Amino acid sequence: MTHTILVTGGAGFIGSHTCVALAQAGYEPLILDNLGNSDIRVVDRLARITGRAPRWIEGDVRDRALLDRIFAEERIAGVIHFAGLKAVGDSVADPIGYYENNVHGTWVLTQAMEAAGVRTLVFSSSATVYGDPERSPIPEDAPCRPANPYGRSKRIVEETLADWQQASPGWRIVLLRYFNPVGAHESGLIGEHPQGKPNNLMPFVCQVAVGLRDKLVVHGGDYPTADGTGVRDYVHVMDLAEGHVAALRKAQEAPGLLTLNLGTGQGASVLDVVKAFEAASGRSIAYEIGPRRPGDVPAYWADPALAGRVLGWQARRGLEQMCADAWRWQQGNPRGYE
Ligand code: NAD
Ligand code: UFG
Repeated sequence: MTHTILVTGGAGFIGSHTCVALAQAGYEPLILDNLGNSDIRVVDRLARITGRAPRWIEGDVRDRALLDRIFAEERIAGVIHFAGLKAVGDSVADPIGYYENNVHGTWVLTQAMEAAGVRTLVFSSSATVYGDPERSPIPEDAPCRPANPYGRSKRIVEETLADWQQASPGWRIVLLRYFNPVGAHESGLIGEHPQGKPNNLMPFVCQVAVGLRDKLVVHGGDYPTADGTGVRDYVHVMDLAEGHVAALRKAQEAPGLLTLNLGTGQGASVLDVVKAFEAASGRSIAYEIGPRRPGDVPAYWADPALAGRVLGWQARRGLEQMCADAWRWQQGNPRGYE
């Protein structure tokens, strides 16, 4: 029997790639998305990649009546919960909106799952819960000191899910802390298309390469790193997608709560990314060094050993492939799914 997995936020960047990995692993993804930050034309692209369009429902995870209907009508084996808001700057300007969507949304979902007897949940957390870490690589038991409302919303969800699992030990929960997801499916058919000016490095570099932006501003060239620019753990979105399938399988094995980093274990600087992108695209990326971005941490990367041991997962795709795949998507789809 094919297991149906409810994928909240499944039309978004990481969710859509995870739908590919789920379908390829023999699961049937069912997307629930309010399309607040995505374009449903992604399902046609998913059909081209996997041979079958995933079913989808337009709606909000905070809509309890809708969730009750979905759980009553479908045989859902588990939920992967991506739906949420993710822009750090917006979360500073609108903290309540972020807690409302990310925290309250997860609570409504959890209560609907409990009522329906669906107790398997994989949750999208973030390395941002660590804040400014004391050292890298960061293990999962490092202190969590999120530095902004977005990060706190993820941490509050982690803590409340841990409380919930204690109270209801039949639940199977995996919290995945992603480092910096980038790249695109190797087909170039799906990828990330931020609305407006991109906040994140890779989409910005892509837009410079394709001629939509003049130059990259590097946020700080005087950090205590090898070349003075910020260092992050960039992880290919398809590696991340496969990590979700492994996490789901693990959750299905036994009740409990697991917290796992998903990263490569390697740091790359902003200038490393620029160089790798130039090599992958054959375009030169104009940049200038600007001031530091407030709130940025100089350098951090994951200790992914626990995910390796527990899930048998490790990132397989390197920075070259992340850039090559991001570039293929950007070149083929300069205006996203339009
Ligand atoms: P995304 O914005 O592309 O995807 C999120 C999806 O959720 C969108 O399609 C949006 O329309 C939908 N959504 C938002 N609120 C909803 C709601 N209340 N009801 C239904 N749908 C809703 O973002 P992404 O990069 O794919 O991120 C997915 C998850 O991973 C998010 O929870 C994010 O916080 C987390 N995460 C992302 C990153 C990153 O850098 N991309 C890093 C760490 C964690
Ligand atoms: N950067 C630039 N110029 C830009 C954009 C970014 O120099 O135009 C630099 C940043 O200063 C940083 C690096 O590129 O050193 C990466 O920045 P991103 O904005 O791409 O990513 P962040 O590490 O700041 O944060 C991302 C997501 C968060 C998530 C976090 C998890 O935006 O939501 O990864 O590690 F929580």
